[in-house]
Amino acid sequence: MASSVFHAPCGAPSIKQLECQKYVGLRPSVTLRFNCVKTKTVTTRRLVVTASKSHDGTTKKLGISDAECEAAVVAGNIPEAPPVPPKPAAPAGTPVVPSLPLSRRPRRNRKSPAMRASFQETNLSPENFVYPLFIHEGEEDTPIGAMPGCYRLGWRHGLVQEVAKARDVGVNSVVLFPKVPDALKSPTGDEAYNDNGLVPRTIRLLKDRYPDLVIYTDVALDPYSSDGHDGIVREDGVIMNDETVHQLCKQAVSQARAGADVVSPSDMMDGRVGAIRAALDAEGFQHVSIMSYTAKYASSFYGPFREALESNPRFGDKKTYVIRVIELYANYREALVEAQADESEGADILLVKPGLPYLDVIRLLRDKYPLPIAAYQVSGEYSMIKAGGALKMIDEQRVMMESLMCLRRAGADIILTYFALQAARCLCGEKR
Ligand code: PBG
Repeated sequence: MASSVFHAPCGAPSIKQLECQKYVGLRPSVTLRFNCVKTKTVTTRRLVVTASKSHDGTTKKLGISDAECEAAVVAGNIPEAPPVPPKPAAPAGTPVVPSLPLSRRPRRNRKSPAMRASFQETNLSPENFVYPLFIHEGEEDTPIGAMPGCYRLGWRHGLVQEVAKARDVGVNSVVLFPKVPDALKSPTGDEAYNDNGLVPRTIRLLKDRYPDLVIYTDVALDPYSSDGHDGIVREDGVIMNDETVHQLCKQAVSQARAGADVVSPSDMMDGRVGAIRAALDAEGFQHVSIMSYTAKYASSFYGPFREALESNPRFGDKKTYVIRVIELYANYREALVEAQADESEGADILLVKPGLPYLDVIRLLRDKYPLPIAAYQVSGEYSMIKAGGALKMIDEQRVMMESLMCLRRAGADIILTYFALQAARCLCGEKR
């Protein structure tokens, strides 16, 4: 065989194109072909023949057998091949020095794009993304000022279109965040388990359109709480743990009934994973997964999100529960306490939030637990990159891809990111 064709499982059109191309895209239609043609040069009698190049750059065949080729070489009629190119010249004035006696030169493995690509340790793919989407009852999409490029999407129109766009570039997982009308909010957040509420209705619509779409839901009372807190607030300001868990179980079951694939408690009440698991199982939802916000830090990076949902706490802050046991953002070991509880209570996925400032916690959970790890690149992280890009202080696209790859390198299997669509388009080689 004179040539062989390799099919690279890569959606990237060319090595030199967009930087982002080196990540594996999902476009199934695009296949890279590398034609590796072994050239055959030939000798006739005594004359060395330099076969002329054919139009495709290969050497013309002269119809000579392998044995004749070998015999020619043995007889000293060596076919011609191009000479080794001369050593590239250094600029004038470059000092002439003896080479350092190094047995290890790490730059050797980085010397060409192809070699760098073959030694790449971490990959990023649209399949790693979960796309958080804000929904509301309206028909129009409302831009979110603090999150450029993000909208509160009309659940029947804009949302469906956005999901279609995401699926088109290989993002098939979404997580829904509802903006609930104020009139439906209450101190106990009962709207959270209304089977005909915005979230269950939306899940049914999406599952009807896209049965294989993976739908994650948020389990917490804050969108439904007239106090803007994740749980029920007592007169003295204390968030009531067990009573809140009771509500969360009803919320999770209602979401499962509508067709949710993964329910994700982000409330940080103690014992909620075990209670939700039991409630789901009791209703026949053994197949519904739980992604637990295991290490949700009390972070100022959530600011833009709260604007998006108008869910700022009316008073106080979330520190007694958002940090559950994680004291502010200073604690590291405490994440293990949370992870132990969540794992033993039956969580299927452990989530760390925020993402980039907490890479150490992602790595910690990745090393200590066999469960899949999720990272939430939260609104503040997103908005900072967007703002830096808009001000031309950083290259938005490159910083976006770097931040996502870093979350993967730290150990995240999946990433909840508002960049999901933009990054997936980039991975698929689309420049917009
Ligand atoms: C609340 C919730 C929050 C986020 C996800 N779920 C905000 C909060 O705790 O106030 C934040 C996500 C983001 O900032 O992007 N259940």
